[in-house]
Amino acid sequence: MTSPIRVAVLGPTGRLGSAICRALLDNPDFALAGAVVRAESSAAGEDIGAWLGGEAVGCRAETALEHAVHDADIVIDASLPGMTVAAAERLAGLGGPALITGVTGFNAGQMKRLETCTDRLAILMAGNFSLGVAVTEALVREAARLPAETWDIEVHETHHKRKADAPSGTALMLARTAAEARGETLEDIATWSREGTTGPRRPGTIGFAVSRGGSVVGEHSVRFLADLEEITISHRALDRSIFARGALEAVRWMTNGGKDRPAGRYTMQDVIAG
Ligand SMILES: NC(=O)c1ccc[n+]([C@@H]2O[C@H](COP(=O)([O-])OP(=O)(O)OC[C@H]3O[C@@H](n4cnc5c(N)ncnc54)[C@H](OP(=O)(O)O)[C@@H]3O)[C@@H](O)[C@H]2O)c1
Repeated sequence: MTSPIRVAVLGPTGRLGSAICRALLDNPDFALAGAVVRAESSAAGEDIGAWLGGEAVGCRAETALEHAVHDADIVIDASLPGMTVAAAERLAGLGGPALITGVTGFNAGQMKRLETCTDRLAILMAGNFSLGVAVTEALVREAARLPAETWDIEVHETHHKRKADAPSGTALMLARTAAEARGETLEDIATWSREGTTGPRRPGTIGFAVSRGGSVVGEHSVRFLADLEEITISHRALDRSIFARGALEAVRWMTNGGKDRPAGRYTMQDVIAG
């Protein structure tokens, strides 16, 4: 029997982090090897299994990154951007272990600092851990090769009523992929919203439409509209557990059966490519 992959989690008390911890504890292929919380966190020093409402698992929430990662094969980050950047710089300085981050919302300066770390550290950045979304992104890249003069692109997303940001990080990622496939920068060709007398659609642009309501986990569709035909590529998340499941697949890919990936930047596109 091969030994389990030992994973440390940053932000184990949050919605995403706790789902990932539960998935790790439920799967014998993985072991929870460490957990990092803020110094002020009520979970500091607590056993993570017990803190999540289950049995004690022998893994205490640490406030020092070094203590939590010293026995880990890999680190999964489900915290927030400031913590992610600080952790990546520390791990790059320590020479590992590699980092998988599911965090979104980095500003340009934070993204630049993360990019710099990839010179010394393997980092997988996954704004959406869903394997279905990763395949959707690949399909969008393919379809966006259709000529921009005749195929208009419109992105539509729906989320629950508590969501604070719009468009969603995933809608932005899908639109950015389409723009890049057309040799463009999304910010140059996006039409973020429409209201009033908008005039005819400007060719080559990517339009957005956002809906909010109920408890929708996440729906995204990218429509390619020509005069006589249309293509719609869409994804619907039915349960948040897909993110934890995808995160575990990312762990398997990054640890690569003990032959760790070299320093560099990776995405879920690498994971689905196998
Ligand atoms: N990739 C995906 O598939 C996916 C899916 C869902 C969400 N996300 C993203 O994942 C991130 C977290 O989302 P969430 O909904 O889980 O948020 P959340 O519930 O607010 O959790 C954030 C976690 O980070 C911890 N944290 C914040 N600052 C920290 C620091 N300096 N040191 C240590 N821990 C710190 C928080 O601890 P405290 O509780 O002590 O503040 C909490 O455990 C967001 O960027 C979100 O957009 C990604």
